[in-house]
Amino acid sequence: MTRDAKKLKDLDRNLVWHPFTQMQDYQSEEPIIIERAEGCTLYDIDGKAYLDGIASLWVNVHGHRKSEVDEAIRQQLDRIAHSTLLGFGNVPSIELAEGLLAIAPKNLAKVFYSDSGSTAVEIALKMAFQYWRQQDRPEKQKFVSLKDAYHGDTVGSVSVGGIELFHSIFKPLLFDGFSIKNFSLDQARQIFTEHHQEIAACVIEPMIQGAAGMRLQPPGFVSGIRQLCDEFEVLMICDEVATGFGRTGKMFAVEHEGVEPDFLCLAKGISAGYLPLAATLTTDEVFDAFKGAYTDFKTFFHGHSYTGNPLACAAALANLKIFAEEQVLAALPEKIAFLAEALKKFAHHPRVQEVRQLGLMVGIELSGFPVDRRMAHRVCLEARSRGILIRPLGDVLVLMPPLAMSVDQLDTLTKVLYESLEATLTREGA
Ligand SMILES: Cc1ncc(COP(=O)(O)O)c(C=O)c1O
Repeated sequence: MTRDAKKLKDLDRNLVWHPFTQMQDYQSEEPIIIERAEGCTLYDIDGKAYLDGIASLWVNVHGHRKSEVDEAIRQQLDRIAHSTLLGFGNVPSIELAEGLLAIAPKNLAKVFYSDSGSTAVEIALKMAFQYWRQQDRPEKQKFVSLKDAYHGDTVGSVSVGGIELFHSIFKPLLFDGFSIKNFSLDQARQIFTEHHQEIAACVIEPMIQGAAGMRLQPPGFVSGIRQLCDEFEVLMICDEVATGFGRTGKMFAVEHEGVEPDFLCLAKGISAGYLPLAATLTTDEVFDAFKGAYTDFKTFFHGHSYTGNPLACAAALANLKIFAEEQVLAALPEKIAFLAEALKKFAHHPRVQEVRQLGLMVGIELSGFPVDRRMAHRVCLEARSRGILIRPLGDVLVLMPPLAMSVDQLDTLTKVLYESLEATLTREGA
C-alpha cells in the first residue's frame, strides 16, 4: 500500500460519514476506496480489481468510462456545465424530454426533472396531492403503497415506504396511508372500495420490489392495480428508479403488463449511471390541472438548484443513443438466460431459501441465519476479497450487474459468488 493510499483510508474513516453504513463497523474495517474503472471492472487505490456486481448501486448501464458518454459530457462541458430550469430552458434538457417521452408509455407527455430517485417519487406524490386539490377534490390526499416498499429517503418517499429497518425510526415524521400486503389485489380492492374518496394515488415499484430483497409480484398484479386505479379514480405512480432502463429485460418494467401509469419516476440508470439526474413523467391531464392565472396559485412550487442539469442531461442523451444504436435490449435475453442457468446451483443449495430473478435483477435469499450473524454481509466480504464488489440487503445476496456485463463476466460473477458462499459457510461452521 502506498503512503497516499493509507492516508486516504485514514481520512475516509475519520471524515466521511457513509450512507446506510454502521460507521462503528466501517471505521474498524479496511475500506475499499475506488479510484478508477474500465467497463464493468472497478479498481481501488491499491490497484485491486473488482467486478461491479451491483452496477455501482444499480445505476451503471453500459459499463464505466463508456467513450460515447464520456465524450458527450466533455462536449457539453465546453458549452456550459449548469444553468437553471426555474423559468429558463437549456438545450440538453429539452432534447432529453423528447427522447424520454419517445420511449416511455404513450400516455405520458411531460417531464419534470430532479436529481435522485427519492425526489422523483417525492415530486410525483406532491403533484398527485396538488392535482386533486386543483380538481376540487381536496379530500383525496392519502396514498396507497405496498408493504416492504422502498421509494427513497426523503420524508415523503419514506412515508410511502414500508421497510421496518430503515423507516420505523422516522414514523413520527411521516404521513399515514394504506398498505397492500402480499401483493393481494383482493386487499387492494378492499382498500380502494372503502377509502377511494380520500385516496390521491397508489404508488408501486412495478413487477419487482428491489430494496425489499428483489421480491417478485405475481403476474397480473401491475395491470390489476392499473384497473383498480381507473375504476376508483386514483392516480397510479410507478417508481421505476431501479427497474427502468433495461434492468428487467424491457426498457421499463410496466411494459411487461402493457401498463400506462399516470406518473413514471426515473433516476439511477437514466444518466447511464454517470451523474445525478431524475425525471418524473406525467400526463397532459395532470399538467393541465396546474395551469391558470398566476394569481390562481396553481403553480407547482417545487424545484431543485440542479434540476435539469445540462451535463447530466447530456449523459442521459448519450445513454438513450447507445440503447438505440447498440441494440442493448436485444442483447439481454442471452445474458438473462445465462444468469438463470447459473443461478440454478444456488437454488439447490441447502442454505438458500429462494432465488428470485427478473432480467438482470437477482436476489438470493439465505435461510435460517439469525440477524446478528449477518451471513449475507459476510459472504459479500468474502466475495470482495475474491474480486467481486457486491452489497447485500439483509439476508439477501443481490446481483444487479450493468447491462453491459458480458456472459463471461456473468459466469465469473456467479462462480465466485458461489465459492464465496461455500467458503463463508465452512469458515463460520454453518
Ligand atoms: C425503487 C426505488 N425508488 C427510489 C429509490 C431512491 O433513489 P435515490 O437513492 O436515487 O434517491 C431507490 C433507490 O434504491 C429505489 O430502488
